[in-house]
Amino acid sequence: MTESIQVDISLPKETYPIIIHPDQFDLSRIKAQLKGRKVMIVSNETVAPLYLQTVVELFNDNLVFNCILKDGEKYKNMQSWQMIIDHLASKQFNRSDVLVSLGGGVIGDMTGFAAASWMRGIDYIQMPTTLLSQIDASVGGKTGINHSQGKNLIGAFHQPKAVIINIDSLNTLPEREFNAGIGEAIKYGGIDQLPFFYWLSQEVDAIKNKTPEILMQLISQCCQFKADIVEQDEKEQGVRALLNLGHTFGHAIETATNYHYLHGEAVGLGMVMAAELSAQMGYCEASIRKMLENLLQAFDLPIMLESNISANTLLRLMKSDKKVINDEHRLILMKGLGGSFIAEGIKDTDILSALNSCLPS
Ligand code: NAD
Ligand code: GLY
Repeated sequence: MTESIQVDISLPKETYPIIIHPDQFDLSRIKAQLKGRKVMIVSNETVAPLYLQTVVELFNDNLVFNCILKDGEKYKNMQSWQMIIDHLASKQFNRSDVLVSLGGGVIGDMTGFAAASWMRGIDYIQMPTTLLSQIDASVGGKTGINHSQGKNLIGAFHQPKAVIINIDSLNTLPEREFNAGIGEAIKYGGIDQLPFFYWLSQEVDAIKNKTPEILMQLISQCCQFKADIVEQDEKEQGVRALLNLGHTFGHAIETATNYHYLHGEAVGLGMVMAAELSAQMGYCEASIRKMLENLLQAFDLPIMLESNISANTLLRLMKSDKKVINDEHRLILMKGLGGSFIAEGIKDTDILSALNSCLPS
């Protein structure tokens, strides 16, 4: 039988657990801290029919309410945030009450932001149900919503009190969504985890077959990688920026294509662009791009934009990304696989040249 795994994340003000279970949602390790508190579970129209009832039953000692939102990145907006806030207001939630997010990264980010903003901050628990949210989005306290100008432009750092993962929930996840999660796993390999990159390459079949032991290993390792970085730099003053490998390109792709690409797919495409730019600027070998493309393709992830988006459009959108400082591009580039670094002051012409080498001719 596969055992549960706990990864703790220790920050200056608090430590919280990421508890990974093979086949159930289980609150037993955090039950004591929930005593007597009202709970609002936020989910969406896809996830709620699958898991809401089971999760509600876990809170049998609490007064529980639900807030069910529409499904999709395009609903990660002010209207959905307002709906959560209105639910909290109508049920008179106060600072001792708790929000719970049940869903993927979209629900997690919005619930976290509602928790950060209601009464200047209440507690919340993440129950992520996509691979991407289990290995990345639910961990580390970045919360937020999108603005028409770009992704996640409105938000706050607000850490959850716990992350509860049931990997069995991945069995209902559409294959394309599962693969998109692998895009973020490959990212950890590209940042500073070369052995993990090779491990992913070796375990493609077992991962695709969702072998429980392999998924437990995959998810716990990624959570540990992320915890290690967030523990050093909770508010992204330095090393945490490495977690944005592929993201400035990726966010531009998501916005330019009106979210035609899933977040993990766009991050994969963005990593290919980052590798190309790194090679053109002389930081790494051209073969790094190919190695990334091979692994992305092994998980059926795109390596070339299909849409007819110009390099200039992507560059313009990259300029509205949060990582632009004093109008200068700050991007995560690679000195090799597993050798990512923060590169400052990158010129538009260099970015355009790399983008043109990655777009269909
Ligand atoms: P998502 O939340 O849109 O979920 C993907 C789809 O899967 C949705 O349709 C959802 O309803 C469905 N779904 C979720 N769980 C399911 C299940 N178990 N079975 C069947 N269907 C299920 O997408 P995502 O990839 O989880 O998250 C992407 C979001 O996460 C983006 O908005 C991105 O910006 C954000 N993100 C945040 C961070 C962070 O640090 N806060 C990190 C990475 C990504
Ligand atoms: N996903 C990037 C971060 O959490 O910092």
